[in-house]
Amino acid sequence: MQGKKPLVVVTRKLPDLVETRMRELFETRLNLEDNPMTAQQLVDAVGVADVLVPTVTDRIDEELLSKAGENLKLIANFGNGVDNIDVHAAAERGITVTNTPNVLTEDTADMAMGLMIAVSRRFHEGTSAISEGRWKGWSPTWMLGHRIWGKRLGILGMGRIGTAVARRARAFGLAIHYHNRNKVSKQVEQELEATYWEDLDQMLSRVDIVSVNCPYTPATYHLLSAERLALLQPSTVIINTARGEIIDEGAMITLIADGRIAGAGLDVFEHEPAVDPALMELVKKGKVVILPHMGSATIEGRLEMGDRVLINIRTWVDGHKPPDRVLPTEV
Ligand code: 8YV
Repeated sequence: MQGKKPLVVVTRKLPDLVETRMRELFETRLNLEDNPMTAQQLVDAVGVADVLVPTVTDRIDEELLSKAGENLKLIANFGNGVDNIDVHAAAERGITVTNTPNVLTEDTADMAMGLMIAVSRRFHEGTSAISEGRWKGWSPTWMLGHRIWGKRLGILGMGRIGTAVARRARAFGLAIHYHNRNKVSKQVEQELEATYWEDLDQMLSRVDIVSVNCPYTPATYHLLSAERLALLQPSTVIINTARGEIIDEGAMITLIADGRIAGAGLDVFEHEPAVDPALMELVKKGKVVILPHMGSATIEGRLEMGDRVLINIRTWVDGHKPPDRVLPTEV
């Protein structure tokens, strides 16, 4: 690749600064209109690109990769999660996959913390009461929520984001419990005064809030299955800023509607961008707070994600291993 500028095809509109730098460095095909690519447009893109820059909204599966041209050697995902990409199929074709870790950790953790408070303290219902003209003035027994200080938080997936959620939650007086493939280091466990649960089921039945922070892989599909969700206490709230597919959403909706789980704060959905109408009903009843996949949506975060993408492409062009390679053994 040295000497020749690679053709980089970007599937969605990225911040202007990122696109400008990309144009300075590479041959580019940008998507200035930001219309998500159709299946055929994606086929065309992988047919010509040296580097593809997709996002969570593009499905880069084995079938698509089988139509990739000889030139496609790098998929530099604009995003941390790589569940939109078949990393194994890419590796088999000698295509390197990279992501944008670290730079959206704090923003996503903020969102998880925000949702915990929003659900427990009824932010959405409060705003609706004012905007719909139903607020008649302060009352000692009106709009009472639940205190989060002193409660138990169970973190499902104690990686970078899970740990960042735990740090915030400590400051809000929550006791940290977690389930993860591996225990975190002694030092981090001590800092967070965290309790490790090897058995997820045991943790679920003992916590007041569950925060989903693991990646979505075939192994975590419906990790919170109907059976597991049934283990939660009726006062428990679920927070999901990871991926909708990790929770059996239909089962969760039924349990919340039946009063067997208290509620949920969701930034992601199993079939997004479609949102189950039954979930909307629960929003109206004040049991659920929903956001449209905004966890990492900060200007600073997006610019830093763009930087990671540029660094990954540039290092690869220079003949080095990109810093944020995702290996098939990791997914
Ligand atoms: C990103 C995310 O905005 O990075 C991730 O894994 O879930 C989002 O917050 C999105 O993936 C961009 O592709």
